Amino acid sequence: MKNHSLLTPIFFIFCPGFIFCHFTVATSTPPYKAVDHIALNCGTSGNSNPPDGRNWTGEIGSKYGPTEQNNKSIFSDAQSHSSVGTVPYTTARLSHFQFTYAFPVAAGPKFVRLYFHSASYSGYEKSKDFFTVKAGSFTLLGNFSTSDSTESKSFFKEFCINVEENQILKLTFIPFSSDYYAFINGIEIVSMPIDLYYSQKGFIKYEWVPEYVAQAPRFYINYSMALEMVYRLNVGGSLIQPKEDTGMFREWSEAIKKYLWSGGTIPRDPSLNPKYSKIPNYTAPDPIYQSAITMGPNMTKNMQSNLTWGLRVDTGFKYLLAEDRADVILWTGSNDTPYYKDYVVMIQNKGEDTRQLSIDLQPRTSEGTLIDAILNGVEVFKLSNPDSHLARLHMVPPQLAQ
Ligand SMILES: *[C@@H]1O[C@H](CO)[C@@H](O)[C@H](O)[C@H]1NC(C)=O
Ligand SMILES: *[C@@H]1O[C@H](CO)[C@@H](O)[C@H](O)[C@H]1NC(C)=O
Ligand SMILES: *[C@@H]1O[C@H](CO)[C@@H](O)[C@H](O)[C@H]1NC(C)=O
Ligand SMILES: *[C@@H]1O[C@H](CO)[C@@H](O)[C@H](O)[C@H]1NC(C)=O
Ligand SMILES: *[C@@H]1O[C@H](CO)[C@@H](O)[C@H](O)[C@H]1NC(C)=O
Ligand SMILES: *[C@@H]1O[C@H](CO)[C@@H](O)[C@H](O)[C@H]1NC(C)=O
Ligand SMILES: *[C@@H]1O[C@H](CO)[C@@H](O)[C@H](O)[C@H]1NC(C)=O
Repeated sequence: MKNHSLLTPIFFIFCPGFIFCHFTVATSTPPYKAVDHIALNCGTSGNSNPPDGRNWTGEIGSKYGPTEQNNKSIFSDAQSHSSVGTVPYTTARLSHFQFTYAFPVAAGPKFVRLYFHSASYSGYEKSKDFFTVKAGSFTLLGNFSTSDSTESKSFFKEFCINVEENQILKLTFIPFSSDYYAFINGIEIVSMPIDLYYSQKGFIKYEWVPEYVAQAPRFYINYSMALEMVYRLNVGGSLIQPKEDTGMFREWSEAIKKYLWSGGTIPRDPSLNPKYSKIPNYTAPDPIYQSAITMGPNMTKNMQSNLTWGLRVDTGFKYLLAEDRADVILWTGSNDTPYYKDYVVMIQNKGEDTRQLSIDLQPRTSEGTLIDAILNGVEVFKLSNPDSHLARLHMVPPQLAQ
């Protein structure tokens, strides 16, 4: 066990190897068609169709709001355009007072993505954003600031929440006090399959309910929880753009050597054509299975080693880990069937705000078979605590200038 891993769930995996098959990949219609897909470009009007594959609707004059209390928010262009470039990061809605957007959507679980460009806006100093974002009863971001670094940056936060029948999805932005402000550049809402990450009883096969590492056989993730995506990695491969996802516009980050603590080999087969006989074809896009990290062909060496990744996470929360891997046989066979395995793990707070969550893959002993471990993709989600919070506590507001 690595000394620097404070908590080490060990996943024993046996995979007989990895194969290179030769088929062509041709997907034009995505496997999943979202019932709701709203992409709201805040602080502006009109529609834009950037090359990201989304139709961004300007919020001004849209039916989504915002509604406000007392004081009006303003909309503004970011003052530093250098690192912005693209929709929805060029314009924002900002306010020293609370404002709320309301989205009438179908019932069911949704992705909620909040897009931020940390910069100075006319009349709003970059360092004074400090705010909370709520979705219904869930606190998605609490006493949050985008200004923790001096540089301008663009990024998004992704959450999963369930919307009940006849419920309107409301997103409320609340500044810490009127000395600070809240802002938002873009909001995206996309429906998701009911069995993708949630494991609501009655909606999922028992075998797909996550294992609760070191606690219990299974952990049901029900609709009383919200999730925050903290890592979504294309293991052994490069960035997969949202428009290349299975219809949910998820972004899969590059993870070739990043986060990998141990050695490993990186087999790639861009022509591999996954056969979805065990899991739904919307689980992950095909390119996830066209690259991987494995141990390699030396079985003697593999029996003596592990594949280990280290991912830094906030303490005091439970995490869902979804591992994607393909059962593919490198040297002999032709069984290129993707599957996944989900785990829930509690990361205790023992005095530090963050800890390394480590994933160890270890091949299982097996007589007369090729021995290897493989990982194609991994997703890590923070689960809301019983107070419906996803935010770290005790965040201190930035100092106000005297
Ligand atoms: C995905 O699977 C569904 C159900 O099995 C099927 O109807 C659909 O054609 C598949 N889509 C793609 C792009 O393979
Ligand atoms: C965007 O709009 C175009 C044209 O109306 C449509 O073909 C396309 O499917 C839309 N894309 C999304 C992601 O809704
Ligand atoms: C906001 O509204 C309050 C009264 O509700 C007023 O006293 C205050 O000056 C307003 N602030 C701004 C920035 O307009
Ligand atoms: C923000 O900080 C204040 C003061 O420390 C605290 O009272 C409040 O509960 C915090 N809000 C959230 C959502 O964390
Ligand atoms: C949802 O899951 C939590 C944690 O496992 C549990 O405490 C709660 O009772 C569940 N709620 C429902 C409605 O099943
Ligand atoms: C396989 O690994 C073992 C142990 O590390 C090493 O002694 C052996 O030389 C390796 N075999 C080959 C073919 O590289
Ligand atoms: C692999 O991991 C297990 C569990 O952490 C540990 O007992 C074993 O020593 C590790 N093996 C190597 C070669 O690092």
